[in-house]
Amino acid sequence: MGDTLILQVRDLKTYFFTKRGVGKAVDGVSFDLRRGETLGLVGESGCGKSMTCLSVMRLHPGPAARILSGQVLLHGEELLQKTEKEMRKLRGKHIAMILQDPMTALNPVFTIGNQLAEPLRIHQKLRGHRLLQRAIELLRMLQIPAAESRLKSFPHQFSGGMRQRAVSSIALSCDPEVIVADEPTTSLDVTIQAAFLELLKEIQRRSNLAILFVTHDFGVVARMCDRVAVMYAGKIIETADTQRLFSTPAHPYTEALLKSVPEVNVQIDRLYTIEGQPPSIYDLPAGCPFAPRCPYVEDRCRQEFPPVKQVANSHTVSCWRHV
Ligand SMILES: Nc1ncnc2c1ncn2[C@@H]1O[C@H](COP(=O)(O)OP(=O)(O)OP(=O)(O)O)[C@@H](O)[C@H]1O
Ligand code: SF4
Ligand SMILES: [Mg+2]
Repeated sequence: MGDTLILQVRDLKTYFFTKRGVGKAVDGVSFDLRRGETLGLVGESGCGKSMTCLSVMRLHPGPAARILSGQVLLHGEELLQKTEKEMRKLRGKHIAMILQDPMTALNPVFTIGNQLAEPLRIHQKLRGHRLLQRAIELLRMLQIPAAESRLKSFPHQFSGGMRQRAVSSIALSCDPEVIVADEPTTSLDVTIQAAFLELLKEIQRRSNLAILFVTHDFGVVARMCDRVAVMYAGKIIETADTQRLFSTPAHPYTEALLKSVPEVNVQIDRLYTIEGQPPSIYDLPAGCPFAPRCPYVEDRCRQEFPPVKQVANSHTVSCWRHV
């Protein structure tokens, strides 16, 4: 695996400004992504995973959502300072996104071929025969059978698994260095999901692609991710290598999340779930946001947010137990 940093996110803050008040959706998120590496982003629904991805792509839903501060460095270039026109040139070419629901990512009135041709025309200036050849090559790379005739199909003529492959072929069409994948396999059934993940890994190995991979599923984490960042209430509260996170979770929230995963082939009486709800992003408590649900809570937890502490090589945690 290469060790070159490709994406650095520093203290990113994306807040919602609504009638309800200020919602701290992404509240000081920092992480690094290296070439050829997959970083998993996990956490309960509403913790800010998608908003982090959208902010990195500068596709957050404005005007309600605003990036207040932070840095997003791609190859050391600050994306937050770019104009929308400059961002359009970067998206697809250097950093691309694969969304959860391939149907929303595809336009129903255009053929797959048309939608695949667009980025190739814009970013790679391909025309005519070369454009067609590249489009066929991409569908073949994603193992879409009868690629040439499939270019003329409309999205509704594809199965769910094929649509996700088509969306991925568009995302990968201009050889981006970074893919942001927001729960790309949630809409797929288990076998198709496994095949898709294997294919993505194979493409990654060949192209040294860096992937930011959002998922709910620790099985998918184990299969796909080199490292994992765990989010809670808009913050990354723990980061570790995947194996280490599974064997030695440091944050009580991570511990609880892992306990809630049913072990394969193990008979369990009751699925462990974390009691209580995450706090509202419009009304975050002072101190550690996990305090109301934490079995280890102490007084100081309710007063101040715990600082980031390194507990081992490339393993960091924000919890007063580890300070
Ligand atoms: N368009 C919006 N307007 C107002 N608040 C929003 C909007 N989109 C998201 N939010 C809020 O921002 C917070 C973070 O949402 P986000 O979609 O990033 O969560 P997530 O971790 O991706 O959850 P999930 O696992 O359900 O996809 C949530 O509290 C959500 O309610
Ligand atoms: S800081 Fe305190 S409340 Fe928060 S997770 Fe750690 S022990 Fe629990
Ligand atoms: Mg999401």
